Amino acid sequence: MKYIKLNFITGLLFGIIVLSMFGCNKSSQHQILTVFFDGVEPINEVAKVGEDSTSTDGTVNIKSTKQILPANIQYYLHSPFEDRSCESCHYTMGSNRLNQPQPQLCYDCHDDFQEEYTELHGPVASGNCTACHNPHKSQNEKLLVVEIEKLCVYCHETGDVSNNQSHKDLGSVNCISCHNSHGGETLNMLKPGVKTES
Ligand code: HEC
Ligand code: HEC
Ligand code: HEC
Ligand code: HEC
Ligand code: HEC
Repeated sequence: MKYIKLNFITGLLFGIIVLSMFGCNKSSQHQILTVFFDGVEPINEVAKVGEDSTSTDGTVNIKSTKQILPANIQYYLHSPFEDRSCESCHYTMGSNRLNQPQPQLCYDCHDDFQEEYTELHGPVASGNCTACHNPHKSQNEKLLVVEIEKLCVYCHETGDVSNNQSHKDLGSVNCISCHNSHGGETLNMLKPGVKTES
């Protein structure tokens, strides 16, 4: 009797070892474990992606990025990032590799500025959308990498800008009250009705 029981346990252990050799990935290991042990928690397929997503027991079902960002900081979230649809831009969830290069990546969902404007702004023409936008989240409106007050003069020397007659007495007027950000009918990207002083 004792001998048979021991044999059964050895057999069972052997079975588990063999089965777990097939279970090289987390989810098949999990399937095996749930076969043998009741009460093994379900694996959360979406919790472990990229940044700050580790939960203490790995069982929280995260549906929105909002749930894992620090609550004390106000972020504007890019809608596909908020929905955790990482694969709409990345090769696989949680990898840094992009599906396709910019600007095509962005034009998949947004209007192509080439169809909207005769002339494109330098960084838009070169397809460098992320020079100005964070693809995930930002504390600034329109996902800008810095506040609009600092954005334009990050690349355009304040000295050069103020040398232009059209820019005298700008005060605290925003650049985008006269200029478009992405392009225009001429390279100066002036909004309709803005007059040239020089
Ligand atoms: C709208 C497209 C888009 C979506 C959606 C998106 N990403 Fe990204 N991600 C990018 C781009 C573009 C870069 C590269 C940024 C650069 O080169 O300036 C990037 C970079 C990264 C990087 C590299 C480090 C960094 O921050 O630059 C990680 C990690 C990453 N993304 C994770 C994620 C995860 C996780 C998700 C889903 C929750 C996600 N991304 C959703 C476009 C996206
Ligand atoms: C999978 C679709 C998708 C892709 C790809 C995508 N976006 Fe978006 N984006 C959206 C949606 C949806 C919104 C919110 C609705 C809207 O305002 O059109 C949005 C909004 C934005 C906004 C406005 C945010 C605001 O707060 O008003 C900016 C800026 C932006 N996207 C830039 C980019 C850039 C840059 C890229 C490429 C790196 C990109 N998007 C790629 C879907 C996408
Ligand atoms: C030189 C900086 C700069 C670059 C480069 C840039 N943007 Fe923008 N973008 C802005 C600013 C500033 C705004 C907000 C003011 C505005 O709407 O013009 C904006 C707004 C947007 C919006 C929101 C429009 C709305 O009406 O809410 C989208 C979408 C967007 N950009 C997509 C893109 C894409 C796609 C690219 C690359 C092809 C790109 N941007 C490159 C500066 C830039
Ligand atoms: C990432 C760097 C970058 C940022 C940020 C940037 N620009 Fe530009 N801008 C360029 C480049 C590159 C050109 C192409 C001409 C050149 O080399 O001066 C250009 C050209 C221009 C021109 C046409 C001038 C000419 O001589 O062709 C205007 C007007 C302009 N930018 C306005 C703006 C405004 C307004 C903003 C803020 C919304 C801004 N830029 C933000 C890089 C930038
Ligand atoms: C009151 C309207 C107005 C505002 C605000 C304004 N601009 Fe302009 N900007 C113009 C006009 C008009 C021209 C065309 C001047 C010309 O034809 O000589 C111009 C031309 C330019 C040019 C191309 C010519 C040059 O001087 O190199 C750049 C770059 C430029 N602006 C950048 C900026 C930046 C950066 C800001 C914000 C700090 C800004 N502008 C704010 C009206 C404005």
